[in-house]
Amino acid sequence: MHAEPPQDSRRSIAVAITGASGAIYAMRTMAALLERGCHLELIVSEYGRRLLRDELGDTATVDKLADYLAATYGEGTRKGTYALYSNKDLGAKIASGSQDCEAMVVVPCSMKSLAGIAHGLSRNLVERAADVMLKERRTLIIVPRETPMSLPQLRNMVLCAEAGAMILPAMPAFYQMPRTLDDLADFMAGKILSALGFTHALYPAWKG
Ligand SMILES: Cc1cc2nc3c(=O)[nH]c(=O)nc-3n(C[C@H](O)[C@H](O)[C@H](O)COP(=O)(O)O)c2cc1C
Repeated sequence: MHAEPPQDSRRSIAVAITGASGAIYAMRTMAALLERGCHLELIVSEYGRRLLRDELGDTATVDKLADYLAATYGEGTRKGTYALYSNKDLGAKIASGSQDCEAMVVVPCSMKSLAGIAHGLSRNLVERAADVMLKERRTLIIVPRETPMSLPQLRNMVLCAEAGAMILPAMPAFYQMPRTLDDLADFMAGKILSALGFTHALYPAWKG
């Protein structure tokens, strides 16, 4: 892994991991994108870091993510690259519309980050990078997780959808007969990859 963005035709996608439950969705999504040779601009909020550790263990800390992904999902994840940014760094390249990042996924997205994005607050790099995607009319995929949801939270999703974001809730389905947590994570990562225009076999296609 290295911090330089690709100089070739590889796709450059921002991935933000915030402090909602569902760190496994973020890891599976990152792994699938890296396996496809993507370059990822990665932001992990303070609580995103905590949830990685709490839900996936000490080997999933941000400074060890490349090794965690290779050990969990295979060496193919080393095909891609990622650059990790501080959530406090509002001067990072993805804080500007002049950067070449074509899309952003916030997975999982906390209700706090959702609120910040919905109201264009740009208090940190997650919120600012998402704001850039909206103002530049680029793809922004928000994967919220909370239950139950308050009216302000529901309204914040509507605001984001109205501004052009795709709301892709962390709601795995069961019709594909999942047997493991990985099956559920594969389903969510597959939905995200489809939304980004990738083909994949992360879950079986519904045959009717
Ligand atoms: C163990 C744990 C689980 C949490 N799960 C959620 C969740 O599923 N959804 C959510 O909106 N917030 C959840 N939170 C609260 C957020 O982490 C908290 O609001 C935090 O300030 C979000 O900040 P961030 O969006 O900058 O990561 C959780 C917190 C902890 C400690």
